[in-house]
Amino acid sequence: MITIKDLSKTFGKRKVLENINLKIEKGKITVIMGGSGCGKSTLLKHLIGALKPDNGEILIEGKDITKMDENSLDKMRKKFGMLYQSGALFNSMSVGENVALPLREHTKLDNKIIEIVVKMKLELVGLTGFNELFPSQISGGMKKRVALARAIALDPQVVFYDEPGAGLDPVTRSVIDKLIADLSKKLNITSIVVTHEMESAFTIADKIAMVHQGKIIADGTISEIKNSQNEVVQQFINGSPEGPLTRQRSGKEYLESLT
Ligand SMILES: Nc1ncnc2c1ncn2[C@@H]1O[C@H](COP(=O)(O)OP(=O)(O)O)[C@@H](O)[C@H]1O
Ligand SMILES: [Mg+2]
Repeated sequence: MITIKDLSKTFGKRKVLENINLKIEKGKITVIMGGSGCGKSTLLKHLIGALKPDNGEILIEGKDITKMDENSLDKMRKKFGMLYQSGALFNSMSVGENVALPLREHTKLDNKIIEIVVKMKLELVGLTGFNELFPSQISGGMKKRVALARAIALDPQVVFYDEPGAGLDPVTRSVIDKLIADLSKKLNITSIVVTHEMESAFTIADKIAMVHQGKIIADGTISEIKNSQNEVVQQFINGSPEGPLTRQRSGKEYLESLT
């Protein structure tokens, strides 16, 4: 479905993505995992065409989106759903209106049909009858569900999730994880989930790609990642305070790593 080839991106002098190669399979859940600042969101922004790389290609169904103009990108993006890191619902709009937004923006469906679609999407995320409520009246987990209903409003083939569990308690997070897995299966969606939560990754992933300092240092199934000999991967999994991720650096070394 998606092939990333030799993707590199530099901000200023800083290499944020370095020769990323990854194949994302249709209908599967691919988890992109790694610590804060390793380049996960930047990679995601390239996949939706919001950023252009310095080098490399992103083939979606055989077409390189890094070479597309805005017009063709817009067409491509209609196949995508996106759950942003902040989840960002519009507080002045009801739950139903929030979910209806992409339908109003990208389709010419009339209000009656939109209402029906919104109802269906809210049902899919377990929020039947929540249309009239406002974001301020619902919990953080429910807001994520609404954002999820909005992400699937246009029946996307691919859904990108940036830290779907951020700011949620562990139980609510596992409920959202289960929902992501269920929706992927039920709607045959190709899902790309960015997270730094090991537990989420090990619950939902068909495939995990571990990113460290802008590079993919390991990728494979859950058991392949669990059995990886890579020291960074092992430290990340075990959450241990000592290892390559937390090696003490001199001020000079640290400064050099920033440039
Ligand atoms: N537009 C930008 N300009 C300059 N630096 C950026 C920009 N976006 C991200 N970065 C830097 O790139 C690195 C990776 O960021 P990001 O992809 O957001 O990490 P993650 O999502 O893994 O936490 C960070 O050091 C961040 O400060
Ligand atoms: Mg991020």
